Amino acid sequence: MTRVFSGIKPTGHLTLGNYLGAMRRWAEVDQRHGDAVFCVVDLHALTVDHDPARVRRLSRQTATLLLAAGLDPELCTVFVQSHVDEHTRLSYLLECVATDGEMRRMIQYREKAARERERGGSVRLSLLTYPVLMAADILAYGTHEVPVGDDQTQHVELARDIAVRFNQRYGHTFVVPRATRPAVAARVMNLQDPGAKMGKSDDSGPGIVYLLDEPDVVRKKVARAVTDSGADVVYDPAGRPGVANLLEILAACTDGDPAGLGDGYTSYGALKKDVADAVVEVLRPLRERHRELCADPGYVDGVLREGARRARALARPTVDAAYRAIGLLPAEAEVVVGAG
Ligand code: TRP
Repeated sequence: MTRVFSGIKPTGHLTLGNYLGAMRRWAEVDQRHGDAVFCVVDLHALTVDHDPARVRRLSRQTATLLLAAGLDPELCTVFVQSHVDEHTRLSYLLECVATDGEMRRMIQYREKAARERERGGSVRLSLLTYPVLMAADILAYGTHEVPVGDDQTQHVELARDIAVRFNQRYGHTFVVPRATRPAVAARVMNLQDPGAKMGKSDDSGPGIVYLLDEPDVVRKKVARAVTDSGADVVYDPAGRPGVANLLEILAACTDGDPAGLGDGYTSYGALKKDVADAVVEVLRPLRERHRELCADPGYVDGVLREGARRARALARPTVDAAYRAIGLLPAEAEVVVGAG
């Protein structure tokens, strides 16, 4: 069976963009057709300035929202990265295979590091080595497919390169993964700035619909979305990015086609009303399920405990094999067991 692995960083409240662009597909497709593993990658949240209490809170909230969005612990494995030591164990080995040049070439590193330096801040070393930890996340599980957004394909490519190199040098150990992108990924843009992705890490409210926003907040944000000059509703992502984004969101919520949907509208107001209704409807079951899960924190704890147990069992043999392949002396007990 195809092993699918993806991760989500607890660096902000999850958004409609996270849901329509990734989580919904994880729930509807990936967990049903593959042997899927989903990880709240909390160690990755420590690569930039962070507030410990907030990371802890967001890790739990992210896991809860993954379940609320339909990830079913009967079908897939959901866990928190720091609960499974294999990630950091493997990451160090991979640091001995990757090069510093490769790290410095990563676009995300360059952008984030430049931004940090501009602010006069310092750049954590872990921001540079982040892609190696991500490669470890992926390779530890014998992953075939990594469903991620475009901004992560370079990191998945790096994981491929590292896997191939390790296998060539030290013998076949890792499955060589590939990034997959859903055929119809909804690319949800910021309602106030349709040139930018609706991301969770840039916590500036008005253009971002959070999964836990109350319906009237959702309606307000959609009503205030920037549109473009011109009054007719046409789908033209380059020329009319604001309207195109609204059509894109409506299409994603109603299983429609953004280009065709435009024909039905003669005013921005009517479009916005339908977008708001559609978003509220899509988020309703998720919010309800989230409320139920919050009322029973023991359940979420149990899912994460069991998820970590399964994840450990999946990753351990591969990481142990990598330790042996790269030349580390097995611990005594292992020699006895492995001698046969
Ligand atoms: N780097 C990813 C992001 O910022 C998160 C991530 C970490 C990830 N490890 C992963 C995604 C492994 C897929 C597989 O979105």
